[in-house]
Amino acid sequence: MNKARNEIKEVMPQMDVIIEVLDARIPYSSENPMVTALRADKPVIKILNKADLADPVMTSAWMSYFEQENGVKAIAFGNDKAAEVHKINELCKKLVPHKVGPDKQIKAMIMGIPNVGKSTLINTLAGRIVAKTGNEPAVTKAQQRIKLEDGIMLYDTPGMLWPKVENENSGYRLAATGAIRDTAIEYEDVASYTAEYLLQSYPKLLQQRYKIDELPEQDWQFIELAGKKRGCIRQGNQIDTHKMSEILINELRDGVIGRITMETPAMRDAEELVVEQL
Ligand code: G4P
Repeated sequence: MNKARNEIKEVMPQMDVIIEVLDARIPYSSENPMVTALRADKPVIKILNKADLADPVMTSAWMSYFEQENGVKAIAFGNDKAAEVHKINELCKKLVPHKVGPDKQIKAMIMGIPNVGKSTLINTLAGRIVAKTGNEPAVTKAQQRIKLEDGIMLYDTPGMLWPKVENENSGYRLAATGAIRDTAIEYEDVASYTAEYLLQSYPKLLQQRYKIDELPEQDWQFIELAGKKRGCIRQGNQIDTHKMSEILINELRDGVIGRITMETPAMRDAEELVVEQL
């Protein structure tokens, strides 16, 4: 982690723009705290990636929220990003117009915690495979430069950036969306957290997916009811809550429950206050 920090610190002064890739389902928890600290007042493009899985209303709310800050532009991408990625070039040029010209170059650094889709985005921007995607082990690679159109040089961040760790809620949301997978957090705890949030924020989607007309109030009641519906039964006719927890999390990650965003700008403001007070 320190290696990544030091390398980023070293190259940051030469950069004109930062491209920060976030998961649109968790735009707060998928931020890397170091990006904000190290970028100082450099212009930033916040990419809300995996927007095809996120609640479109919330994605718009997050974009407006981020753009309140000076020098910040936000854009959302989903699975069909190929036709849209040229908008990043436009935003770069808008943010640093003095670097646009025949003999000029815009240096842009792309950053993001693992699994937000940074490699996929780099490959789409480059129009060829330059970064490994999927479940490749995180290897510390050397700084990579990729020449894009419009006089933009894209610098990939070396090393691995870690997600928010100081906030327990972020841990649950990172686990729920699959941003972090094999964690110390139990599946059933992640499912409880998720069920509680979905009961509050997306009850209709839960009703439709699990065919439950009257939703219970408590998360554990929901897991039991949905488990019964899905036939998650252990020996002795007990409901297999672990199995149902796995189903809930996997279906959330796959987007089959619906388009869901796990955090709102208001949650961010409230949780940041708590973290500051720690
Ligand atoms: P990273 O470099 O940030 O670590 O992420 P990477 O590009 O490897 O993408 C991680 C996973 O997210 C990949 O799935 C990729 O296909 C998926 N992904 C990237 N962009 C989007 C998007 O806009 N929408 C959706 N729905 N998925 C996207 P994977 O290869 O199946 O890996 P995994 O999910 O099994 O880890």
